[in-house]
Amino acid sequence: MSETQGASAALPQHVAIIMDGNGRWAVGQGLPRMEGHRAGLKNVSKAVRALVELGVPYVTLFSFSTENWKRPEDEIAGLLRLLAEALDDTAKELHRQDIVIRHLGRLDRLPISLRLGIGRIVEQTKGNKGAVASFAFDYGGRTEIIEATRKAVESGIRPGKIDETIFEGFLNTTGLPDVDLLVRTGGEKRLSNFLLWQSAYAELYFTDTLWPDFGRAEIEKALADYARRQRRFGGL
Ligand code: IPE
Ligand code: IPE
Ligand code: MG
Repeated sequence: MSETQGASAALPQHVAIIMDGNGRWAVGQGLPRMEGHRAGLKNVSKAVRALVELGVPYVTLFSFSTENWKRPEDEIAGLLRLLAEALDDTAKELHRQDIVIRHLGRLDRLPISLRLGIGRIVEQTKGNKGAVASFAFDYGGRTEIIEATRKAVESGIRPGKIDETIFEGFLNTTGLPDVDLLVRTGGEKRLSNFLLWQSAYAELYFTDTLWPDFGRAEIEKALADYARRQRRFGGL
């Protein structure tokens, strides 16, 4: 393996993050949970910027799971309001940085204004030349796999022709590389139905740090940990 290949193997191409701990962050500050989500959203643009500056070309963030609809109605309303704000500012800021924005998950349960807003920003940024930031909102890995299966059947493809590459073409993440590093903040050590197919070989990194506190220094720590594991495997 050449020097350059070795060096790039130490840097994950695709980092996916389960952003957890907003509620606990707020409680810790004596604030309502919603303030934790607000602080979490603020951290989104910072984290994407840091990862991109550090050389990671694909970043995927888990914002809302298919199971999160079970949360109290007022929290869901607040999260949808924040999504609307994010489409107004965070997304535009990423667009200015030449970042391609993608959405992973279902759109059909979102209010029409949000559905249109997401469609617009995805369309506007699809020709950008920078990194790709994907947002999983109303996303669940099992649903994605079932949907992909349905699409494959509907396409009329001969069952014997289906292989991993063809199947990937029916997933939400088509065109994205596999996840190299999967991070979960907030102390839990589970995948919560996130990118089940795409994380088959991902390195897992769990930290107690709550999402709003997961800043550049923490990101660098996670990347350094990933690089160490690659070296242990003889990647360098
Ligand atoms: C993650 O933070 C954000 C979402 C799932 C929307 P949480 O709201 O799960 O925060 P904790 O886990 O209760 O602290
Ligand atoms: C998981 O967060 C999904 C996101 C962070 C978006 P939760 O806090 O809802 O986690 P579980 O469902 O309890 O594992
Ligand atoms: Mg949580």
